[in-house]
Amino acid sequence: MGEIVRLQKYIAMSGTASRRAAEKLIADGCVKVNGSVIREQGVKVEIGADTVEVNGKTLKIKNKKYYIMLNKPVGYVSTVKDQFDRPTVLDLVKGEISARIFPVGRLDYDTEGLLLLTNDGDFTYRVTHPKFRMDKTYIALIKGGINAAGLARLRKGVKIDDFTTSPAEVEILDVSAGRTTVKITIHEGKNRQVRKMFEAVGCEVIGLQRIKIGSVELGNLPAGRWRYLTEHEINYLTRS
Ligand code: URA
Repeated sequence: MGEIVRLQKYIAMSGTASRRAAEKLIADGCVKVNGSVIREQGVKVEIGADTVEVNGKTLKIKNKKYYIMLNKPVGYVSTVKDQFDRPTVLDLVKGEISARIFPVGRLDYDTEGLLLLTNDGDFTYRVTHPKFRMDKTYIALIKGGINAAGLARLRKGVKIDDFTTSPAEVEILDVSAGRTTVKITIHEGKNRQVRKMFEAVGCEVIGLQRIKIGSVELGNLPAGRWRYLTEHEINYLTRS
């Protein structure tokens, strides 16, 4: 299903008129949806499915920007095409979004959770460039336990490859038979960073899920499903 927006927003998105002017066009009877004149405000239309005309001219939405949150399941690559032909995250939104969208950063094949997708390069830059220090929060399931010294090292910064990580926020959520659940927040995005950080303190990650980017949360979006970001979330993620 395409995105559903109010008619005046659709008209504004097409570049035909401002939202305010679009409301007047609607009230004046200049707008048709699927061949019928619409005079009341608040009617909603589906982008890509409904036909909207203003004064007899069919509108097109050009350069529309898409901002999507996907709950990536384990077993999908976060690239547009995989060299080994494994399923990609785009397979999960294909057919429903006509624009060429791409993942904002990456989650490993064996990591699940919050992944953003967009066709807006500036948005990607704001969310992923280290200078914006966007927090990313993960739930890591580790084999066995982690001791106080390990936690202290993660909180201070550990050396992975030739890089020393910034101090992480780390909290133990649960300790149960042979495994420990840890919440960890970092703002860098090195390759397999969370796994390598735990490895650096002698722990093996056996499950990893991203639950938050900044204050934007995965919530109860089921695995493999996606939704549009709200305007509030988009504004928050692109704020300076
Ligand atoms: N850190 C990892 O180790 N893997 C991810 O997918 C994301 C962060």
